[in-house]
Amino acid sequence: MRFDILTIFPDFFVSPLGAGMIRRAVQDGLVVIQTHNIRDYATDKHAMTDDRPFGGGEGMVMKPEPLAAAVEQARGNGGDARVVLLTPQGRTLNQRLAEELAGEKQLILVCGRYEGVDERFRAAYVDLEVSIGDYVLTGGEPAALVLLDSVIRLLPGVLGCGDSAENDTFSRGSRGGLKYPQYTRPRIFAGREVPDVLLSGDHAAIERWRFLAAVRRTISRRPELVAAMELTPAELKLLRENGISLPSAGVGGD
Ligand code: ADE
Repeated sequence: MRFDILTIFPDFFVSPLGAGMIRRAVQDGLVVIQTHNIRDYATDKHAMTDDRPFGGGEGMVMKPEPLAAAVEQARGNGGDARVVLLTPQGRTLNQRLAEELAGEKQLILVCGRYEGVDERFRAAYVDLEVSIGDYVLTGGEPAALVLLDSVIRLLPGVLGCGDSAENDTFSRGSRGGLKYPQYTRPRIFAGREVPDVLLSGDHAAIERWRFLAAVRRTISRRPELVAAMELTPAELKLLRENGISLPSAGVGGD
């Protein structure tokens, strides 16, 4: 998969892209990531990428021409790229959206700054606007990194063997809810023991325990996720047998 990041701060990405899982994915040829400095596409002699808003008001607006030229360049010959603008006004990123984006061939991530981007660029070039949550960042760069990370780890071959995105919180294996609690050595820490069942070697019992623990945790921490959990009749029966009642539907979705 290919990512092109359009930013006025390409240095922002150097260290995060050079570490850990993303670095390995790049080295293994599973992803290609290229940053483009929007300033390089400015056409005036001062290399301006922003200007004052028509109609007055505070702040600066990103000019449409350099953004458009950078998108055209990033598209290259392939016509399949999806152009994503990071903005607090966009669709909120969640696991489902990350999974959807992981199916794309190329994403062009446009990092907005200042008071926003010129509306005509948005209308003519942007396929999807994404927010990483209801708070305002100084720009789209941290949001682009979050999106990149959440998508790359879903690509085939990126997670090491033994690891799997399947049982992640919010994923299908967790039925869209939170993941069960995890334990490792030592068996006693701070006076607290690992639950016996996890040491029993009884895989069916462990699976049942994990399922129940995951549902209990989802109910107590994120009750709005429960309504969207996809549970089989057998799982619903198991919940009933263990005295777990689901909060009534209609409390949420995305
Ligand atoms: N730019 C500023 N705030 C943002 C947010 N919450 N998500 C995406 N891009 C942003």
